[in-house]
Amino acid sequence: MQFAKLFRCFPATALFVVLTSTLLAADTNSPRERLLFDFGWKFHLGNEWGAAIGWAKAGSGSGPAGRSFSDASWRTVNLPHDWVVELPFDQGADGSHGFHPVGPGFAANSVAWYRRTFGLPKSDAGKRLWLEFDGVFRDAQVFVNGWFIGHHESGYSSFRYDITDVANYGGENVVAVKVDASQFEGWFYEGAGIYRHVWLVKTAPLAIAPDGTFVYSRFKNNVPDKTVEIHLQTQLLNSQTNAARAKVHYEIIGPEGKAVASDSESARLKPWAQRMVRSEIRFRSPELWSPESPKLYQLITTVESDGKRVDRQETTFGIRTVAFDANKGFLLNGKPYVLKGTCNHQDMAGVGAALPDALQYFRIAKLKEFGDSAYRTSHNAPTPELLDACDRLGMLVMDENRLLGSDAANLERFKGQILRDRNHPSVAIWSICNEESRQSYPDGGRVGAHMQEFLKQLDPTRPVTAAENVGDTYSGLMGTLEVRGWNYHIGPDMDNYHKEHPLQPEVGTEQGSTVSTRGIYKNDPVRGYVSAYDENAPPWAHTAERWWSFFAVRPWLSGGFVWTGFDYRGEPTPYSWPCINSHFGILDTCGFPKDNFWYYQAQWTDQPVLHLLPHWNWPGLEGKNIDVWCYANCQQVELFLNGRSLGRQTMTNYSHLHWSVKYEPGVLSAKGYTDGKVVSETKVETTGNPAAVQLTPDRPTINADGEDVSVITVSVADAQHRVVPVAANLVHFALSGPGRILGVGNGDPSCHEPDVFTPQSPIRSVTENEGWRWKKLPNIYNPRLPEFRTDFDDTNWDTANVQSDSGPLEEQEQGVFRTKIRVSEPDLASQAVELQFNRIDEDGFVYVNGRRVGESHDWQAPAVFDVKPFLHPGENTIAVGVENWSGAGGLNKGVTLQFAGKPVAPAWQRSVFNGLAQILVQSTREPGEIQLTASAEGLSPATVTIQSQPCTPRPFVP
Ligand code: GAL
Repeated sequence: MQFAKLFRCFPATALFVVLTSTLLAADTNSPRERLLFDFGWKFHLGNEWGAAIGWAKAGSGSGPAGRSFSDASWRTVNLPHDWVVELPFDQGADGSHGFHPVGPGFAANSVAWYRRTFGLPKSDAGKRLWLEFDGVFRDAQVFVNGWFIGHHESGYSSFRYDITDVANYGGENVVAVKVDASQFEGWFYEGAGIYRHVWLVKTAPLAIAPDGTFVYSRFKNNVPDKTVEIHLQTQLLNSQTNAARAKVHYEIIGPEGKAVASDSESARLKPWAQRMVRSEIRFRSPELWSPESPKLYQLITTVESDGKRVDRQETTFGIRTVAFDANKGFLLNGKPYVLKGTCNHQDMAGVGAALPDALQYFRIAKLKEFGDSAYRTSHNAPTPELLDACDRLGMLVMDENRLLGSDAANLERFKGQILRDRNHPSVAIWSICNEESRQSYPDGGRVGAHMQEFLKQLDPTRPVTAAENVGDTYSGLMGTLEVRGWNYHIGPDMDNYHKEHPLQPEVGTEQGSTVSTRGIYKNDPVRGYVSAYDENAPPWAHTAERWWSFFAVRPWLSGGFVWTGFDYRGEPTPYSWPCINSHFGILDTCGFPKDNFWYYQAQWTDQPVLHLLPHWNWPGLEGKNIDVWCYANCQQVELFLNGRSLGRQTMTNYSHLHWSVKYEPGVLSAKGYTDGKVVSETKVETTGNPAAVQLTPDRPTINADGEDVSVITVSVADAQHRVVPVAANLVHFALSGPGRILGVGNGDPSCHEPDVFTPQSPIRSVTENEGWRWKKLPNIYNPRLPEFRTDFDDTNWDTANVQSDSGPLEEQEQGVFRTKIRVSEPDLASQAVELQFNRIDEDGFVYVNGRRVGESHDWQAPAVFDVKPFLHPGENTIAVGVENWSGAGGLNKGVTLQFAGKPVAPAWQRSVFNGLAQILVQSTREPGEIQLTASAEGLSPATVTIQSQPCTPRPFVP
């Protein structure tokens, strides 16, 4: 990664590494380029082109997989992109996936195509080119210039293809990706599409192999000491026909940007071979990485051959030790460190599974606010940039694999995950699977043992567990894996297990699970809301207080991971439709806190916490008793209503305080005492009616890199600027300046309003079946045939019926078909003009006004050509040379001309839920002021200005 450049654009709040002159002055020159390939993709939902792969001949991808296919009328999207979030809600769809009509039973919405045209300079010839996908959900078939280059099924693992041989140097290239989300992989919202980054990587033919760097630290007895040993491994790849000598130079840059150690190693590589180079460096006074102090080092690996630098790569790493102890629990840097963690799916309001990096940082920072210091990537390999955010912001990670399996394909995927993630200091433990049905059987145990062994070969530094939802059972995985993972089963099962297996470390892989809705204080099965008092949990799970009070006093359990940090789409529990998302979160889908946030903050942080619930807007309940709860971490709390004391109570460990209060509007307030002194104060007030919309950005300045995002809270407040906790106003948004709205949300688990408003292009189709004539000819492959030209006289040719199913060419015959079409000037002002032949049987070469437009080689798929650049107002000549190989062939099933209008920008809107909503605004690459206005009927509007500041975007494919 070109980290020096990337950092110049990174959210200021996310930056913990200071770059000093030492590093910036370093010579960063190398043939390696890593270009972000996210911008300007064309997207089409649906597949009208069948398989699109020609298995008979190589390089013959058809339909969108073909080179000359037109995507001009398709929508332009930037990655990451998730098309499911664009679909409506449908009660007939799968609830565990969020009631979106996708997957089994919804064929029309489940397959889509992405295409991207790009240029490569001639000077790239001789380099190695890799196309890297961080993740595509799912079943991706990838084509480059009509060549099929790979098929990757899982939606959660990264994959890359070497495209060196099929690239077109000094010209245009096209990559096409068919994505098929007809099947699910999980039981939760998964989205669909290219929902993570794509990269184009260029290297010299002798270079560091993909994922070829491994750097880790070791201390004697696995406890940090004065001197650290850094272990370095570099896999070199020589893709040349000659043998080569390589010199690998290592330089380690400390957290303050100064070089702290270096070393060099040499190796000889055979032609077309890989070779591992190893080194060990020791240095004193290492600065340790931890969630509280995420100090990062950089390894700069340079490779020279024949006196020339052939590669340079920067790898971020951290120095720290991790271990599990059967009695003390998890150890970080040699000391007990309780895992205060959450499990999360990658899913957020407004964007679904497609999170720009800025939102990964936003979410990790949100989790840290309540003391969360560990993240389980349930139930799959994470997006790599999530791990970057965890490294930089300080968050330990349980890096989970999707499926239990020691079959070759699963191990290969797992290997990719391990090699990709093992340099991240945040990754502290691997989980090989979640709640597998074979977990307690002998076969499950054998498969787990195989995976554990496989993993240890690739990463000898980290412990292994699995998320296991059985009780006091030692068979299968539980007795096999290093660390026993506990999903639920709080109680005697855990104590008995610990007694019976005193040497095995344990961890709470999945715990808690209060179901609650932000701002709701009574269960409402009709609307699908669950009270935000910490009282409701599914039968297999527990409230926050129940699990934490059990774990907190058992250090051998290592702490655990709450299900979940954030609400996510799907798995509505305990109610179903109209509820469309889960309620397990400590935060809702936007990241707005529910009351449990303060329970955890009080338990998990040292900052003074004093929180009262519920809100104090209860018109109609005057004189009725209301349960008031208080979360705090002081010794005593006194509650007041409109200034009158309602008594002082003493906090009990791991719990909350409770008062039953006769409601009267006004101010409910509290004072927290420790050692008799007031250490904290808080209040909730009865508000007035909604009067104004308010906009509050998390970051008022973002980078003009086309990626950065400002997360803006929309609130509805009374005349005194107090958020009205029951407001439900519909808010309309308008944006001007160099930005775009990515999505909107409000955390309401039963809201069916859209999160995105996608631009639509009006399409007008005109049939062009008239006036066709044809003639059999001996060689239609000659592009200079007069029969393709405008001035050719075809009046004595036979008329052709281009709407029939087959014919008029017989087997192995060739011929030319011609017609004239008329287009007007306004027609040509369309965004795109495409000529579609529903069947060219079999090989076809299309000419417009004598110029070659493209070719088609699939008789089953409609062929679509971008003809706008070839047409002029008035009469135009279309000529198609066709060779038919078998049966009867020709031009069949009709011809149409399609005009696509300019996309119509939709108006964005969203209701607030209990006073709050969220809007995500992304920069373009143009600096300037982005203005967002929010208005609602009867309320005074709000405008916020986001500065999009100039920066050097990370290198990208133009
Ligand atoms: C767990 C499972 C999670 C989620 C949760 C819902 O058993 O691991 O993925 O489904 O239940 O309570």
